[in-house]
Amino acid sequence: RLLARLDCGEDIIVVSNRAPWIHRATPDGIVGERPAGGLVTALEAVLAGQGGCWIAHGSGSADRATCDARGHVLAHHLPGSYRLRRLWLSDAEVAGYYDGLANGALWPLCHRAGVEPRLREADWACYRRVNQRFADAVVAEARSERPVVLVQDYHLALVPAMVRARLPDAVILTFWHIPFPEARTLARFPWRAELMRGLLASTVLGVQTAGDLARLDAARAGMNEPPGGAVARAYPISIAWPVQEPDAVAAAHTRIRNRFKVAPGVRLLLGVDRMDYTKGIVERLRAFALFLQQNPDQAGRVALLQVAAPGRTALAPYRRLDRTVRVLAGRINRRFGRAGYLPVLLHTGGLDAAGVADCYRACDACLVTSLQDGMNLVAKEFVAARADLRGVLVLSRWAGASAELAQALPVDPRDIAALSEAIGAALAMPPGEQGARMAAMRAVVREHTVFRWAARLLEDGMAAQAAVPATAVA
Ligand code: G6P
Repeated sequence: RLLARLDCGEDIIVVSNRAPWIHRATPDGIVGERPAGGLVTALEAVLAGQGGCWIAHGSGSADRATCDARGHVLAHHLPGSYRLRRLWLSDAEVAGYYDGLANGALWPLCHRAGVEPRLREADWACYRRVNQRFADAVVAEARSERPVVLVQDYHLALVPAMVRARLPDAVILTFWHIPFPEARTLARFPWRAELMRGLLASTVLGVQTAGDLARLDAARAGMNEPPGGAVARAYPISIAWPVQEPDAVAAAHTRIRNRFKVAPGVRLLLGVDRMDYTKGIVERLRAFALFLQQNPDQAGRVALLQVAAPGRTALAPYRRLDRTVRVLAGRINRRFGRAGYLPVLLHTGGLDAAGVADCYRACDACLVTSLQDGMNLVAKEFVAARADLRGVLVLSRWAGASAELAQALPVDPRDIAALSEAIGAALAMPPGEQGARMAAMRAVVREHTVFRWAARLLEDGMAAQAAVPATAVA
């Protein structure tokens, strides 16, 4: 409904690194897989409603087999009613653009998490070339002089300027999903002027929070020649409010306890993350160990289920983190475990959306302890899953979500003692207080969905388009 009011003239183009659908070859034939998450749901709804095209890197084992010669997914392989255009990146391009510049340089630069950005000229050159390929695809897919182009994230920072150079009247709506860095941090990035020029060629440049916006404005003000006319605003991203299943909790309890072999009396703390050094997984494990050490009566009564999805393993800090987390979990289990009780249940095998929802419903408290996080949708998904109004959210004050979820228990994840105390407070919280806090947070998430996020961004883009005459006319 929010999106129905818009009219983008059937010429809307989404461009992102990851695709909304990948195809895999399996023994049973080709299967299409859709990554979990609200962003795809919302942007697919925009495209389905408006007509348009999504451009992304094709990385599935059967992606080529499901496309025509130009990289368009054949209609019978695409459930959505829009065009999906895949871009084929070579291994060298993935290494330079994705692993190298995006995740080896920009990701650690933008997150305060103790990992040094790896700044290599060759990676930047590759990033620029790949961004140009994405921009060329946008131009090729546009059906008018004024397409609405939705650019996603730090992988594609140069795309706005590259599209603007070819389609001066395009309405370019760029969203930066990760924290925007402090000016003095950005100053360490040798190619910051080009990066900023790339982003500020957008019509609207969206960031997650008021803090990100302030840092973006400061970086912009510090430039010698502040370029581009981009309107910058904060649009906190969110999730699609799920179908509510108040009775699902008991069934989820049983499934999770069977699956992870949790004894009936044991209470459950939960962490759900990508295996990423920004997420504070090590700090969380240390705090849990401290909690068990300081509360010996709790050993045998509470376990931490940590779901950690591996990724970006081409990069050394990710491989190191994986090892550290395993070692730490093993150590805690040897020290505090006993027959029939494992304090840390580490699951790195992947879990589908239904499995994650079960975890949300089966736990007593969800621990979101990111050292820094653009938003963190786990916090919002957890709240949305608790139609029973039970469960406690422990939330890092350095996650963007903390600006909206004021009734969570706030923590500074670097303060292990305070984090351990927050675990204790969460486990001791009376049901009445859990319910009051949960109800307040649920009202916020129910109101501010990812559909509203998309609608606000598009509405601001349409308003900007209406305000600026086409260059042809001017
Ligand atoms: C996080 C960030 C997103 C980013 C994604 C990429 O979720 O918040 O902004 O796009 O990571 O993850 P990937 O697995 O594609 O490297």
